Amino acid sequence: KILILDFGSQYTQLIARAVREANVYCEIVPFHKNVQFEPGLKGIILSGSPFSVNDENAPDVPVADFIKELPVLGVCYGAQLTAKKFGGIVAKSNKREYGRAILKQQQHDVLLNNMSAESQVWMSHSDSVKEVPPGFELLAYTDSIPVAAFKKTAAAGEQPLYGVQFHPEVYHSVEGKKLINNFLVDICGCKQDWTPAHFITDTVEALKKQIGDRKVVMALSGGVDSTVAATLIHRAIGDRLYGIFVDNGVLRKGEFESVLELYGKLGLNVKGIDARQRFYDGLAGKTDPEAKRKVIGSLFIDIFQEEAKAIEGIGLLGQGTIYPDVIESVSVHGPSVTIKSHHNVGGLPAHLHLELVEPLRLLFKDEVRKVGRELGIPADMIDRHPFPGPGLAIRILGEVTEEKVRLLQDADHLYVKALKDTGLYATVWQAGTILLPVKSVGVMGDERTYEFTVALRAVTSVDGMTADWAHLPYDFLANISNEIINNVRGINRVVYDISSKPPATIEWE
Ligand code: XMP
Repeated sequence: KILILDFGSQYTQLIARAVREANVYCEIVPFHKNVQFEPGLKGIILSGSPFSVNDENAPDVPVADFIKELPVLGVCYGAQLTAKKFGGIVAKSNKREYGRAILKQQQHDVLLNNMSAESQVWMSHSDSVKEVPPGFELLAYTDSIPVAAFKKTAAAGEQPLYGVQFHPEVYHSVEGKKLINNFLVDICGCKQDWTPAHFITDTVEALKKQIGDRKVVMALSGGVDSTVAATLIHRAIGDRLYGIFVDNGVLRKGEFESVLELYGKLGLNVKGIDARQRFYDGLAGKTDPEAKRKVIGSLFIDIFQEEAKAIEGIGLLGQGTIYPDVIESVSVHGPSVTIKSHHNVGGLPAHLHLELVEPLRLLFKDEVRKVGRELGIPADMIDRHPFPGPGLAIRILGEVTEEKVRLLQDADHLYVKALKDTGLYATVWQAGTILLPVKSVGVMGDERTYEFTVALRAVTSVDGMTADWAHLPYDFLANISNEIINNVRGINRVVYDISSKPPATIEWE
């Protein structure tokens, strides 16, 4: 295992994902947590940070103590902190350096094994190391900074200590993965045995132990996380897993039936509940997005509770929680404000007072997908776009009615099908249609029409935190616009949303 000490960089999770991609398990912990040198821990990586090491309250860790036990690699801030603590000089660069640079090797080292003499790397910093500390060696530089990679000369009783100014974890550092691999395997001696197959075997064993002969109830949403989590739990305890899948009336067209059918194929014991009318009644007259979210969230909890109570002797609650939901973040800008209150099944545990079963707690989303494929879940399900818990209710601006749901389901169905048929579905992170609360005039044949407008949304993103609108081909937009207007009665205008996040958000509500 590798420990990543987080100083609040936006890239910390990317370091973790790069380590995991090398099939080495790692965890992210805030820098101020005490490091436990347990057996199995093989090395420490220090992340970047929005702070400067010369700030008054700059975050600090005892690097000299760490290297008595384990190899350490400092990245960006982590490297600057290391340099400063050992007597090197760190100062503001003449200009902030962002983007591509060419890394040139000064001296060969195992850290740089298999990397080209000149290699493209990605920089993002305003401070830099001007001079390596006494007792350190320069490994590489770029045209704009004299110290891009360095190491401490080996001393008795010490483990290797490295620092790199660039970000090996980001995509644009072309050979960055090699550097990380060298650190993990050749310097820390990690075994590369963190694979989906191993994860499944270990997790199923652990689930059997945790659950024993008790029963687990779980809310399924048709999404990737809950499906993979349920499949793992099912492997461990079979039909003692009771799945509940609620039709809240704002799912996609045909989704309730097709998802239940898939669960059936996977052998899962899932009860489908048609609660559409309760949700439409609850949503009647509600126009505020947060009010709609509240109605859907609390009705869902009511229904789930009723169903769970009806099953005798339930002891545990299954959940599809994943690693990004549980990482303790280092807050650098103070407490953040709520932009939207996200409803998903996360609201359940507090209400039910049940012990939790969370088999995906340690996984990133891309790892959940890999595990899902290994479990034999069909690609169609694994590669599904994210879909919000409140479903089409937050894509129908203003009041939700059954009639509007039907309109939007039809338009959405055509849009998603066209994206899939043209191969564009896999190129965007999320796509959907939004029903606008305006009617406008059109002409069909000789008739004047006065009907609704639908907006198409498609974005590219890595994690949904930031997003750009997808530059879908004009031909595609032309065709889908025709198709929707010709086939969905009640819609006579289609527009395409060209806003990025920030300042817009992905959903309109
Ligand atoms: P925004 O609109 O905040 O969306 O840019 C970011 C991601 O979150 C999803 N989203 C939700 N998911 N309950 C959910 O489970 C919600 O209330 C909710 N609101 C937004 C959105 O679909 C996108 O993937």
